[in-house]
Amino acid sequence: HAAEAQRTDLMTITRHALNEQGRHPESRGDFTILLSHIVLGCKFVASAVNKAGLAKLIGLAGETNIQGEEQKKLDVLSNEVFVKALVSSGRTCVLVSEENEEAIFVDGPLRGKYCVCFDPLDGSSNIDCGVSIGTIFGIYMIKDKDNATLEDVLQPGTNMIAAGYCMYGSSCTLVLSTGNGVNGFTLDPSLGEFILTHPNIKIPSKGKIYSVNEGNARNWDAPTAKFVEKCKFPQDGSSPKSLRYIGSMVADVHRTLLYGGIFLYPADKKSLNGKLRVLYEVFPMSFLMEQAGGQSFTGKQRALELVPTEIHQRSPIFLGSYGDVEEIKSLYASES
Ligand code: AHG
Ligand code: MN
Ligand code: MN
Ligand code: MN
Repeated sequence: HAAEAQRTDLMTITRHALNEQGRHPESRGDFTILLSHIVLGCKFVASAVNKAGLAKLIGLAGETNIQGEEQKKLDVLSNEVFVKALVSSGRTCVLVSEENEEAIFVDGPLRGKYCVCFDPLDGSSNIDCGVSIGTIFGIYMIKDKDNATLEDVLQPGTNMIAAGYCMYGSSCTLVLSTGNGVNGFTLDPSLGEFILTHPNIKIPSKGKIYSVNEGNARNWDAPTAKFVEKCKFPQDGSSPKSLRYIGSMVADVHRTLLYGGIFLYPADKKSLNGKLRVLYEVFPMSFLMEQAGGQSFTGKQRALELVPTEIHQRSPIFLGSYGDVEEIKSLYASES
């Protein structure tokens, strides 16, 4: 009978957000409205990704973005959808997107109290071969709604009030934290609703997987090289770790969150700040990892304590199981 009750007691992401809202008596549902517009964007991208090949959505858009990357059609399309959904929500003030060189300032009647930093399509290199890709977002509260400035999105990650990602894989999974733990929701295409499937996700305290692009090994610094060496040739008699690297941060982080282990995109001689962008890749994933009992380190400090000075700034990142990140931290500590 309980199973029957469970089947009809649908915990949608909107209902879950409303329950969470109960913890903030002062809130008037603005966050829930913002979230519903982010969810709309995710549903659109999910349907576009599922038929990318059929809808001629694979391939290049013929432009390059501020990152110097050739933009894929789906990069451009998903960015437009998210910008329009976020602006039309009437709950945003400043938007930072990987695909826009400058921050977007929402003016007039549609201005709201949230700043959203997002990567509309993460893992673009994997679009054309059908490997999992995703969307990543982090949310700040505006400081003063009547004069939004760039300072509102150059805040440390510790000031984020929520973060999440949507992974477009064999199933479409949205993982979200509003600062009270991490929950996973799976899109039920027959309902068009994200249903709670992974309540209160906690990352294992140690894992057996390391996730890094070994192709950059020649350029790593000593602590990173030593850490990866220990993963492959453990000195303490334990068995070597497995290497899993998909090349989409969302997919690599989702596996790390559920199975444990460590994901790293270290600095290297070519790029001293690594590759991943602070506002819409490093901060949201670090927020989620901490909320799930893991941690996230830049090689110098706790990732969330970084204070960005530029909206597309990059940072090295080591995130995942608490115990695994402790190891990399001690290697960097002994080096400095
Ligand atoms: P994006 O597609 O949004 O530009 O991000 C790609 C990132 C991230 O998804 C992934 O972890 C990393 O690029 C992979 O980089 P390498 O191919 O250099 O390993
Ligand atoms: Mn890109
Ligand atoms: Mn990305
Ligand atoms: Mn991207």
